[in-house]
Amino acid sequence: MKKEAKPWAGRFRLPTSKATEAFTSSVHYDIRLYKQDIIQSIAYARALTKVHVLNAAESKKIIQALEAIMRELEHGRLKLDPELEDVHMNIEAFLIQKVGEMGKKLHAGRSRNDQVATDLRMYLKYEVTEVVFLIKKLQEALLEQAESNIKVIMPGYTHMQRAQPLLLSHHFLAYYEMLRRDKERFLAAGKAADVMTLGSGALAGTAFDIDREGLAKELGFARVSRNSLDAVADRDFAIEFLAACSLLMMHLSRLSEELIIWSTFEFNFIKLSDKYTTGSSIMPQKKNPDVAELARGKTGRVYGDLFALLTVMKGLPLAYNRDIQEDKEALFDAVDTVKAVLGIYPEMLLTMKVNAEEMKAASKKGFLTATDLAYYLVRRGVPFREAHAIVGKIVAYCEESNMQIEYLSLQQLKQFSPEFGYDATRFLSAESSIASRDMTGGTAPVRVKEAIKRARKELLHDQA
Ligand code: ARG
Repeated sequence: MKKEAKPWAGRFRLPTSKATEAFTSSVHYDIRLYKQDIIQSIAYARALTKVHVLNAAESKKIIQALEAIMRELEHGRLKLDPELEDVHMNIEAFLIQKVGEMGKKLHAGRSRNDQVATDLRMYLKYEVTEVVFLIKKLQEALLEQAESNIKVIMPGYTHMQRAQPLLLSHHFLAYYEMLRRDKERFLAAGKAADVMTLGSGALAGTAFDIDREGLAKELGFARVSRNSLDAVADRDFAIEFLAACSLLMMHLSRLSEELIIWSTFEFNFIKLSDKYTTGSSIMPQKKNPDVAELARGKTGRVYGDLFALLTVMKGLPLAYNRDIQEDKEALFDAVDTVKAVLGIYPEMLLTMKVNAEEMKAASKKGFLTATDLAYYLVRRGVPFREAHAIVGKIVAYCEESNMQIEYLSLQQLKQFSPEFGYDATRFLSAESSIASRDMTGGTAPVRVKEAIKRARKELLHDQA
């Protein structure tokens, strides 16, 4: 096949240097947009036909050729040429090779600037549905674990110090909630992307009377952009998507960190399955939580993607500048990373074993119900600050004499406050502490069961 000249070669006297070609080419990554690009071009050919830039026969031929190019690309039978810069110019060149001169008509009124923005928006809309689906799978895994461990008591932490007892299910549900909000953020980013920029031309709009609303409908967009400069120059929708990715990764990184700590010899709260851990090449005994560690580590690159695009955009005068081409690698990398982590996480969670005994034992040591003892005094009329101080002294005493509060006799307790009665120690069990957090959002078993039920229903009706 004859090599197509660069479509913009007309005003140049010298050929582009090889270095410039290599430096500016984006085909090795924007090939990912070929489907969107071809679908868009097919719709655009129809729009051009309506305004008589193409006649019916030309339109038919062009559309058939574009469909053929799509199939050939799908089967890997076409190779993009880096000299033709990007996926858009490559597809145009394939078209011209197939249909001849009439292929040169398709770009009338269109610029790669509005074209690439539309491709990218189509791409992101699709990826949002993918990511949301995968988040749902992870939420289901969390619910599964919450349900099957409904009786497991664990120590809750603040400052990494034992704080108050919790149901492990409550802990899992905390991540369920974070993911619920993550999903909302992705859906919002999808909505931001759902604006068709085609028809904006290079920057000022198109001089052909194309039906933008009709085009939007055909391409599945909810709205059309309202300002041609804004449409080709901004990538805020992509940044919103990357921000959603970053927050999701932040949540997954915290979960990873917990799984890593919980599976240490020191904690021994969980055992990750052999399937989701790896060994050491030198220490035969090692079983390392590498999947969780990599998920935590990959958070850094997704943050990097967000910052890359924010920084690319910050100094750009209107409208399009070539800097904006840098948006794609950041986006693709974030999409790949987020999908890879979400892809492996549900199974890792579902196959992990919870060591209920160890968790329970840990929740009994460390004065986790000291607050409950203070509340006992509050119910007897002691002001909370005073009750806090009294129980603080009891804790210090127990620590010095190396004993648990529950082993103190009533007589000993009364030395700290006359308000202590025979029933005081009843409030010292982890179970009673947990049961007393019986409010919306609390860790009491009834509330947690309710929350699981609600979450199940939510996921069932979640049409996202
Ligand atoms: N490859 C370019 C990008 O991704 C397409 C737009 C190029 N526009 C231009 N005027 N050079 O941004």
